[in-house]
Amino acid sequence: MVASYSIGHPDLDGDHDRMVAAWRELEASRTLEAAKAAASRLMAEASGHFAREEQFMAQCGYPDLARHKALHMEMAAALRHVLLLPLLGKGGHEDFVLAMRSLMIKWVMAHILGEDSKLAPYVRAQAGSTRRAATGRR
Ligand SMILES: [Fe+2]
Ligand SMILES: [Fe+2]
Repeated sequence: MVASYSIGHPDLDGDHDRMVAAWRELEASRTLEAAKAAASRLMAEASGHFAREEQFMAQCGYPDLARHKALHMEMAAALRHVLLLPLLGKGGHEDFVLAMRSLMIKWVMAHILGEDSKLAPYVRAQAGSTRRAATGRR
């Protein structure tokens, strides 16, 4: 995990890493087929991740869950839209990579850094209460 976007939760950080790795694969692709395969993996990773992250937020009583969920839905819709472009014959490999890049930059910058980062104090609080439960301390 890149320290700058780590929220301190191993599973959620791992999800973010895998999504970024799929994006890097997409950026390194040489053909539209390879780019589409990387984008499909990214979409699958994102769907699983959004569900896990929302489950964590519900568990720890995150107050902004509804808005965060709506942002995930928007992001998934934008991803589906970009994934459809090559199927509709709109643009080639380069256009697809550019469309995915602008979506991922918006996602990485605006969402992980601006929104997911707000979960870090809840991750720390949960880790603290787990430790206290394990040691029997209050
Ligand atoms: Fe999120
Ligand atoms: Fe996330």
